[in-house]
Amino acid sequence: MKFFIDTANIEDIREANELGIIAGVTTNPSLVAKENISFHDRLKEIAQEVDGSISAEVIAEDAEGMVKEGKELAAIAPNITVKVPMTLEGLKAVKQLSALNIKTNVTLIFSANQALLAARAGATYVSPFLGRLDDIGQDGMHLVAQIAEIFDRHAIETEIIAASVRHPIHVTDAALNGAHIATLPAKVLKQLVHHPLTDAGIEKFLSDWNKQK
Ligand code: E4P
Repeated sequence: MKFFIDTANIEDIREANELGIIAGVTTNPSLVAKENISFHDRLKEIAQEVDGSISAEVIAEDAEGMVKEGKELAAIAPNITVKVPMTLEGLKAVKQLSALNIKTNVTLIFSANQALLAARAGATYVSPFLGRLDDIGQDGMHLVAQIAEIFDRHAIETEIIAASVRHPIHVTDAALNGAHIATLPAKVLKQLVHHPLTDAGIEKFLSDWNKQK
């Protein structure tokens, strides 16, 4: 399983990228709104930092508008992936964008059927939202497992991005259940690095080292 970072914050992206583990970036309108910047300018900045896929979401609700916005976003950098919501209009837009060889990420996936439809429309990625399903008392990870099994059984190449990841257990379970990618908030990424026994071990090694004559 690969890691993407789920943010529009350029400092967080730079810091994560320095670790050498970031294969891409996902943004959404809520994350961009927090930054108070020009979306296109921020995408250019991100594209200078990151070689992998950068998901940029369309705002239009009709297929024609989504395709128009998608083409504009894709023109910003060759590694822009156009993020499209899971709707009938979204599926039409995915079909058209993929015919133009523009990569797409179908977002707000909450059922295996939605993921299958998105894949058949030509999506490069599907993004099941784990945390938001857990929030309403459903099992987000079960959805990832179902999608992974269906895609595997039917030789579907669309990649699964485990999204709405809230904590490290989501990350391990997403990897075990067949997600190709987990997109992580910066906070969760940092949580993955730390373990109390690692920290205690470093402290003990240093104190033993400093005791020598
Ligand atoms: C992924 O592409 C989304 O931007 C994101 O993971 C949504 O997460 P949230 O449910 O924490 O807002």
